[in-house]
Amino acid sequence: MTENVFAKDFSKNRDVDLVAAFHLFNQYTQRLEEAYNQLQNRVKEIDREMAYTNACLKDKVEELDSLTKYLNSLLSSIHSGVIAVNLRGEVTMLNKAAEKILNLDASGVMGKRVESFFQSSDGSKPLLLLALESGKNCIDVERKIETNKRVLKWIESSVSLIKDVNENTIGAVEVFRDLSEIRELEMRLRNADKLAAIGAMAACIAHEIRNPLNSIEGFSALLARDFEDSDPRKKLVRNIIQGTKNLNKTVTELLIFARPLRLKLRNNSISNILDKTLFFVAEDMRQRGLTNILIRKDYTVDTDFLQCDSEKLHQAFLNLCLNAVQSMACGGCLTIFTRLVEGNVQGNIQVGISDTGTGIKKEVVHKIFDPFFTTKQEGTGLGLAIVSRIIEAHNGKIYVESMEDRGTTFYINLPRNGNCHTDVFNDAYLKNETLIPQFV
Ligand SMILES: Nc1ncnc2c1ncn2[C@@H]1O[C@H](COP(=O)(O)OP(=O)(O)O)[C@@H](O)[C@H]1O
Ligand SMILES: [Mg+2]
Repeated sequence: MTENVFAKDFSKNRDVDLVAAFHLFNQYTQRLEEAYNQLQNRVKEIDREMAYTNACLKDKVEELDSLTKYLNSLLSSIHSGVIAVNLRGEVTMLNKAAEKILNLDASGVMGKRVESFFQSSDGSKPLLLLALESGKNCIDVERKIETNKRVLKWIESSVSLIKDVNENTIGAVEVFRDLSEIRELEMRLRNADKLAAIGAMAACIAHEIRNPLNSIEGFSALLARDFEDSDPRKKLVRNIIQGTKNLNKTVTELLIFARPLRLKLRNNSISNILDKTLFFVAEDMRQRGLTNILIRKDYTVDTDFLQCDSEKLHQAFLNLCLNAVQSMACGGCLTIFTRLVEGNVQGNIQVGISDTGTGIKKEVVHKIFDPFFTTKQEGTGLGLAIVSRIIEAHNGKIYVESMEDRGTTFYINLPRNGNCHTDVFNDAYLKNETLIPQFV
């Protein structure tokens, strides 16, 4: 009996617990449902926000993309070269004009150090690196550079540091223009003016001077014969003869320089012409007793034929070689080389005449092709002026690179299809004139 009462109570309690549990369960389910609904609403809200942000982001990306494209097309359509580097001096951007001026492909230099392809011809540090080191911008700096195809160019550059929003330097950018053509035109114009003036003067006085000079030289030679070797007057007469010879040389050079050039064009091998020149140089050195100058030949062009006047080119090469020899009074090495450089389809032949002599002072290097510019006591200052006329007549170009106390190299670029200038030549003008090789 007792057992039954207990069983009944127990079952009643269990029902109450169950109802409470059920109630609790219901409550939790309801709360869970509410939370779920809230979560769903929040997710929908976030979805909407995300869609909006995505749309904004897409707009921004498109805007950025079109801005980048605009900047790129701006950079590629300007005629100035633009190169940017990071703090390590590695190229991060190089535009089309820079590719053209420097004769290279941007893809080949991206990420490379700027000095590996953008060198000043005097070997000094690139402006971009100088600006990064000094933390200063540079404006309108003119300098000569050598492209990777070994062509020398005049450029004018400005370098600015690139800063981030916090004004920290993150790189530098150089904007540069190719001034080579302008400089060359200026030079031609200057030379043309000088030529006209000198031509007129030379025509007037050269012949007037020459005839009496020849007489003085002739009579002095007769006079010299009348004196014994021991007679001090013989030395004086010899001085007169030497003086007239020097003067004659100057007048002859003046005439060569002033008269129009007539080229006798033939298909000639440049190395043959150079060999002939070197023969004369060696002979000149032998006569002067110079034994401490080594001559080195380095011809690297296999077929080096071109339409040219071999005599005139020989004259030009000779003047350059003799200047080189004269610059090496204490001995040294004269190197003559030929190589192919960029130019027309067939390429230019480049002749190099290099010495290890005194070099040319920076302050005067721009004057050396000027007629009458000389730093030598016995110089006429016409040797290089003649050289530059001969090279120009062949439609070629001449460049010089020099370092004081280290030496000088002259580069002569001769085009294979050079359309040379064959000026009309006035024979009457040259009557009685002998052309001597110039031992200037
Ligand atoms: N290879 C060279 N090394 C050093 N100086 C040179 C060289 N070639 C030319 N020069 C300089 O250029 C000047 C002009 O040369 P040039 O016209 O041949 O005249 P000149 O030899 O009569 O002085 C020289 O006086 C000299 O100062
Ligand atoms: Mg000379």
